[in-house]
Amino acid sequence: MQLGIDIGTTRIVAALADRGNYPLVRFEGPEGEPRDWFPPLIAVRGSQRLWGWDAWSAQSDPDATVIGSIKALLRHSYEHINVDSRTSGASILDLLTEVASAFRTALDKDSNVHSAATEPLEIVLGIPVNAHSDQRFVTAEAFRRAGFVVLGLLEEPVAASLEFRHGHEYSGGLLIYHLGGRTFDASVVEIDGNPPAVVTSEGLEHLGGDDFDAVLAELAWEAAGLQLFQFNSLSPADLFRLHEECRHGKEALAPTTQRIIVDLGIVLQGCKPVAIPVVAFYDRCRPLLDQTIRVVEQLLSNYGRRLEALYVIGGGSALPLVMRQVREAFRNQASRAANSHATTAIGLAIAAAQKNGDKSREKSFSPLCGSAPSLAVPIPANLDPEHWLCGFMNDAIMKFFASGGTITFDAVSNLLKDRKEAFLNDLQTARRMLHTYPDLFKER
Ligand SMILES: Nc1ncnc2c1ncn2[C@@H]1O[C@H](COP(=O)(O)OP(=O)(O)OP(=O)(O)O)[C@@H](O)[C@H]1O
Ligand SMILES: [Mg+2]
Repeated sequence: MQLGIDIGTTRIVAALADRGNYPLVRFEGPEGEPRDWFPPLIAVRGSQRLWGWDAWSAQSDPDATVIGSIKALLRHSYEHINVDSRTSGASILDLLTEVASAFRTALDKDSNVHSAATEPLEIVLGIPVNAHSDQRFVTAEAFRRAGFVVLGLLEEPVAASLEFRHGHEYSGGLLIYHLGGRTFDASVVEIDGNPPAVVTSEGLEHLGGDDFDAVLAELAWEAAGLQLFQFNSLSPADLFRLHEECRHGKEALAPTTQRIIVDLGIVLQGCKPVAIPVVAFYDRCRPLLDQTIRVVEQLLSNYGRRLEALYVIGGGSALPLVMRQVREAFRNQASRAANSHATTAIGLAIAAAQKNGDKSREKSFSPLCGSAPSLAVPIPANLDPEHWLCGFMNDAIMKFFASGGTITFDAVSNLLKDRKEAFLNDLQTARRMLHTYPDLFKER
């Protein structure tokens, strides 16, 4: 089974590759309700560490502390996390492995992917464009430790462009406008290549759809005539409940909605619900969106060439105002993805299906297959199985495979049994590394 997994700051979204279709994986939320995402959160209560929905629910528990999103921690990739004494000493790899394992358990037990427990789960993971090599390694390794077969990593805008290419006849440069939950980025991707390549990218690290919830909460507070000091004295658990209330109102907005009702009674006893005119809400969101428009304008002027299409993705862009403002700025070049919060995950699932296809085509001359007819590339002397230093992956070995070199089964059939096993094990490792880091060992 092949899956694409997009690890977001606020949501992990997974799509399944199923005979040319890419349905989203649905999980059971804390109340048993269907959700097409899984929280990338870690929290602590007493001496206990919590992940996923347990960590999510802990946000309204005054006895728990929410450490935060694993993606935000990864971005800064501390070797050891010390944000809370109860997590000090845990490496980022440990924490991400715990989140990945909770995600794996949720796939097995609380999702519509029924056979997850029995089939190998082959995945392609999304990675931000500017992710450093530690971040790439930790991401792949954590999911491998959690029991997934990591087919590869793909930069998020590249994945989004694969999803775009799936539904559109288009070639050349594509601008991806991505407004997520907590971040914004814009990238130019040249989509003709296989895989497509990111030419240039810019972003805002602290702007996303969750900021609209905060804007709505602020407006509701003002409309109820409440004071700032009262707002500032809200506990983290109350603040979470208030933002959740606003998030529900925001996500239910249709282009024709006039008012959003916010019930402040959930945090202040006796407080009546208030009605916020959508016009007032949008007026206060506009300056935030102006910042994203300026980033895109800057990117386009750096790129210097004309682009035919602008693709609007990310859950944050589901707010109707976003498309309105992007269209005003860039005329009708822009189109919004149908499943804007899942575009990246779907693109990753497409990549996973492609890699799986490549794998079955490779079979006829795979280094692990007995019926290989001939060597594609002569085996260099230092790679001769007879003289192989087992367990040692050097550059020459990796470059040999990266350049399309294969070793037939015949060449290893004379080896003694234990030596053959060690040798085949090395080939497996080499293949796994090449799938995970396809560009790392290419000749430059
Ligand atoms: N129908 C909707 N209308 C408005 N906003 C929505 C809607 N659905 C989801 N969102 C918002 O989308 C945001 C989450 O988007 P997404 O899943 O793309 O973020 P992420 O991948 O977790 O974060 P990031 O990309 O910043 O790392 C949240 O702020 C959520 O409230
Ligand atoms: Mg995202």
